[in-house]
Amino acid sequence: MNQFKGKSFLKLLDFTPAEINTLIDSAAAFKKMKKDGTPHRLCEGKNIALVFEKTSTRTRCAFEVAAADLGMHPVYLDPKSSQMGKKESIPDTARVLGRMFDGIEYRGFGQEIVEELSAFAGVPVWNGLTNEFHPTQILADFLTIKEHFGTLSGKKLVYMGDARYNMGNSLMVGCAKMGMNFVACAPKKYFPDKALVDQCLEIAKETGAVLEFIEDPEKAVAGAHVIYTDVWVSMGEPSEVWKERIEDLTPYRVTKKLMDTAGDKCRFMHCLPAFHDLKTETGSEIYKQFGIDCMEVTDEVFESTASIVFDEAENRMHTIKAVMAASLADELPL
Ligand code: CP
Ligand code: NVA
Repeated sequence: MNQFKGKSFLKLLDFTPAEINTLIDSAAAFKKMKKDGTPHRLCEGKNIALVFEKTSTRTRCAFEVAAADLGMHPVYLDPKSSQMGKKESIPDTARVLGRMFDGIEYRGFGQEIVEELSAFAGVPVWNGLTNEFHPTQILADFLTIKEHFGTLSGKKLVYMGDARYNMGNSLMVGCAKMGMNFVACAPKKYFPDKALVDQCLEIAKETGAVLEFIEDPEKAVAGAHVIYTDVWVSMGEPSEVWKERIEDLTPYRVTKKLMDTAGDKCRFMHCLPAFHDLKTETGSEIYKQFGIDCMEVTDEVFESTASIVFDEAENRMHTIKAVMAASLADELPL
């Protein structure tokens, strides 16, 4: 029997380390089946709703491809074309979607929205990113770390940049749960919220995780297995914050010098999309305004052999498949 059946996946705080490991191992099993061409239509005939109030490439495609592989039919609701929030409350939307679908993915703003959806839907709800958390991303990141380093426990992950938002928060929780060494490296004002830090420190007492908050990049990365970064301005934030973020976070850009300080074994990770060159509208706009040709990571590091960002991106699909199968299938492959 599958222990996750009927459950939502809203944040890693809701799951034990053993459960997180099961989801990662199941994703690895799904990945192997996909590569071997073994059919795995474990959710045949089910329908799922994909609600996106923010844009997406990876998460949307991962849910759609994984749904098809599992034998399900996904329906995508884009940021503009549903009534949700504008003409219809979250509880009402949840109860309508819950009558038609077997599961609902939500990407949007406050974590309380996805929690409320789950409370009212009567079917499993999956968090495809909120301002506070991005839990399916962490499963993909951890599968990738396991593939490259064998284990999670004891590995050191340094998160460079704004650690108060979804990626910094979720990586801190994930590392605390899995007994890893998490370092947030940024100016103090970008460290995660104290209440969440305290919660993670309590978890760390049980798992042996080490959590550190360091302002000096060179000190932070010593002995790191992974240097991780994310965009300096997240979806939903006003464009006025760019100037301050560029001033504050430029010393925290991931450069070759920083990777060299960490050493040969260190790998570079990023949830993507990344600003590493001028081939994006935002990248060239920022170049015109501020004269910088990259932001959180240099093109040299992004394109280097130490960069495992596309393994991570692929693993979004395998891990999201495991999350959906966990909620909806009778058995999980392991
Ligand atoms: N990493 C991630 O969530 O990417 P998308 O915004 O493209 O879904
Ligand atoms: N912090 C980023 C993550 C994107 C996957 C954002 O919320 O825009």
